[in-house]
Amino acid sequence: MIVTPVTVRVPAKVNLQLAVGPLRADGYHELVTVFHAVSLFDEVTVRPAGRTSVRVSGADAAAVPAGRANLAVRAAAALARVARPRGASSAVAIEIRKRIPVAAGLAGGSADAAAALVACNELWRAGLSAAELSVVAAGVGSDVAFALLGGTAVGRGRGEQLTAALAAGTYHWVLAFSSGGLSTPEVYAACDRLRAARAARAAGLAAGPGRVQGAGPGAALAASPVARAGDGLGVRPAAGAGDRLGVRPVASAAGGAADAPPPRLSTELMAALRSADPAAVGPLLTNDLQPAALSLRPALRRTLSAGRELGAIGAMVSGSGPTCAFLAADARHARDLAVSLTGAGVCRGVAGVHGPVHGAAVIASAEHG
Ligand code: C5P
Repeated sequence: MIVTPVTVRVPAKVNLQLAVGPLRADGYHELVTVFHAVSLFDEVTVRPAGRTSVRVSGADAAAVPAGRANLAVRAAAALARVARPRGASSAVAIEIRKRIPVAAGLAGGSADAAAALVACNELWRAGLSAAELSVVAAGVGSDVAFALLGGTAVGRGRGEQLTAALAAGTYHWVLAFSSGGLSTPEVYAACDRLRAARAARAAGLAAGPGRVQGAGPGAALAASPVARAGDGLGVRPAAGAGDRLGVRPVASAAGGAADAPPPRLSTELMAALRSADPAAVGPLLTNDLQPAALSLRPALRRTLSAGRELGAIGAMVSGSGPTCAFLAADARHARDLAVSLTGAGVCRGVAGVHGPVHGAAVIASAEHG
C-alpha cells in the first residue's frame, strides 16, 4: 500500500471583538472574543518519513522556526501521543506553504498547528472526531481550536472554548500588513502595564494632588515587570500541553491586570452580525489589545487613520497586531480600499479577503492499495 501525502488548507483569523479580562493564575488572560476566519490560507502537507522534519516556503518562511519550536511539529507530536499506537512510527515530513504573515495577529502559527492536526489525523487514519481534535488543539495553543472550526465563533476562557456564532452574510476586508511582527505575550504584557498605569493614575487622582508620589504612568510603567515568552516569530508557547511539553506561559506584568473586570460579549455586535450589514458591524469592532499594540508600534496609528480616511467602515488592529484590518462595504469597495491603502504607503502590503470561511480542511489526499 502506498500512502500519499495529505494536504490541508487552513485560514487566518481576525477578532471582531477581543475583550481581555483579568490575568489568571496560569499566566493567561480570561477572554471573550469573536473569532472570524478569513480567506487568507496556509497549506500544510504531511507525509510519512524516517524522522520528523518541517520545511517552510513563502514570503515569511525565514521567520518561521524549524524543529520542535514549530507549532505544526508540536501539534503532530500532541496528536501522536493520544492517537498513535505504541511502537507505530509517528515521524512525518511537514511542508508548510505560508501565505499568512508570521507574528501578525492573524493566528498563522495556530493555523499551521490546526492543519497539522487534521492532516495527521487523516494520514494515520486515527479517526479522532472534530470534538476530540479540538481538545488536542486547545493543548497546543489558545487559537488552534478556532482554526479547526473556522466560520465566526465566540471564544471564551483563554480563547479555546468555542461556540459557533449566528452570523449572516459575507464581510469583505482589507488586511494591511506591517514590516516585522509583534510577540503576543509582549502585547498582553503591555496591555497589563497600560492598565496598571491607568489604575495608578486613578488612585493618584482619588488621593488628591501631591498625595501619591511617583504614581504617574511613567512610575507604573517602570515598576511593572516585563513579561517575556520567546515567540517573536509567532510561535507561541504551548499552553495546557505545557504540562506535557514543559512549556509554560510567562505571566504578564502583574499590577492592574488582575483587577480588570470580567470580559463581556458585545450583544450589539452579535445582533449586527445577524443582520449581515457591514455598516452596522463596522463601528462595533473592538480590540482591548489595540492600545497595547499601538504603544509598541506607534506607526500603526497612521495606518488606521489612513484606512478610516479612505472610507473603511471599520478599522482595527487584528488580534495582538501588527496587521490592521479594515472592513469594506462590499467586494468592490474592498478592492478600491486596497489600492488606495497601497498608494498611501502606510503598510508593507495589503490583501483583500472575505469571511467567514471554513476551518482547516483536507484538500488533497489519496491512497493506492
Ligand atoms: O496559547 P498561546 O500559545 O496561543 O498564547 C500565546 C501567549 O499569549 C501566551 O503565552 C500568553 O502570554 C498570551 N495569552 C494570554 N491570554 C490568552 C491567550 C494568550 O495572556 N487568553
